[in-house]
Amino acid sequence: MMERQLLPIIKQSQIAYETFEIVFRTSLAQQLKPGQFVHIALPNHILRRPISVANVNPIENTFTIIFKIFGDGTKMLSTYQVGNTLDVILPCGSHYPIEDLHVRKALIVGGGVGVPPLYYLAKTLKEKGVDVTSILGFQGKEHVFYEEKFQQLGDTHIATNDGSYGVKGFVTDVIKQIEPEFDYYFSCGPTPMLQAVTNVMGDKQGFISLEERMGCGVGTCYACIVPLKSNPEKSLKICKDGPVFAANEVVL
Ligand code: FES
Repeated sequence: MMERQLLPIIKQSQIAYETFEIVFRTSLAQQLKPGQFVHIALPNHILRRPISVANVNPIENTFTIIFKIFGDGTKMLSTYQVGNTLDVILPCGSHYPIEDLHVRKALIVGGGVGVPPLYYLAKTLKEKGVDVTSILGFQGKEHVFYEEKFQQLGDTHIATNDGSYGVKGFVTDVIKQIEPEFDYYFSCGPTPMLQAVTNVMGDKQGFISLEERMGCGVGTCYACIVPLKSNPEKSLKICKDGPVFAANEVVL
C-alpha cells in the first residue's frame, strides 16, 4: 500500500558530476523492492518527481535515492540538506520479480541515471546467492558513481561514451567483448540504450525498467505510454504498470 509521509533526510552528498545521493528514514523502508520508485513533492512544483530507489537498509529503516540535475525540480532537490524533510509517497510502481525467478547468474546492464535502481537489485540478488556481473555506462569519467559498490557484488565493467574511463563506447560494446554468461539480464537506462541492449539480447530472458521515461508518475500526463509488443493497439503506462517490464513486453 502506498503511503504519503513526511520524511527526514539523514544523509545528503554529491557523488558525481551533478549527481546527488539522499538517504531518508522511514518505517516503510523494508517494503521498497528493487525497481520501485518514490514520488517526491517539491515546493512550487505541481508535479511530484518520481525517483527510483537505489538502496535500502532494513536494519536502520533507511532508503537511498540517487538523481541527476536535469531541470528545476531536481536542481531544487539537490539543495536539500540533512535535517530537512520532504513529502514522499511510497512505495510506487512495479518491481523486478526476482522472488519468482530461478536466477543463478544475473547480468546487470545500466546507463547513467538508470544505474541506481540496479544497485539495489544487484545487492538483493547477491544476498540470495546469485552470481552478479555488472556492465555500467556513463557519459564520462566525472559521471561515474558506485563503481566500488558494484565491484563488491561481483565482476563490474565500466564504459564511457567519451572513453575518459573504462572501455570507450557503449554497454553493448562491453557485452559483445566479454560475452557474459547469465540466465537473466536486468537493464535500466535511456531508451536508446535499452533498445540497443534488448536487440543484442534477442530472445534471452530479461527485465527492463523504463523509469527514465516517467513524467507525472501518477497516470495523468500520458507522457509515459508504451505500446504492447504483442498488440500495438494496446498500451501500458510506465508509471502505473511499470516501470519494470519483461524485456520484450513493450515497444521501446
Ligand atoms: Fe504521467 Fe505516467 S508519468 S501518466
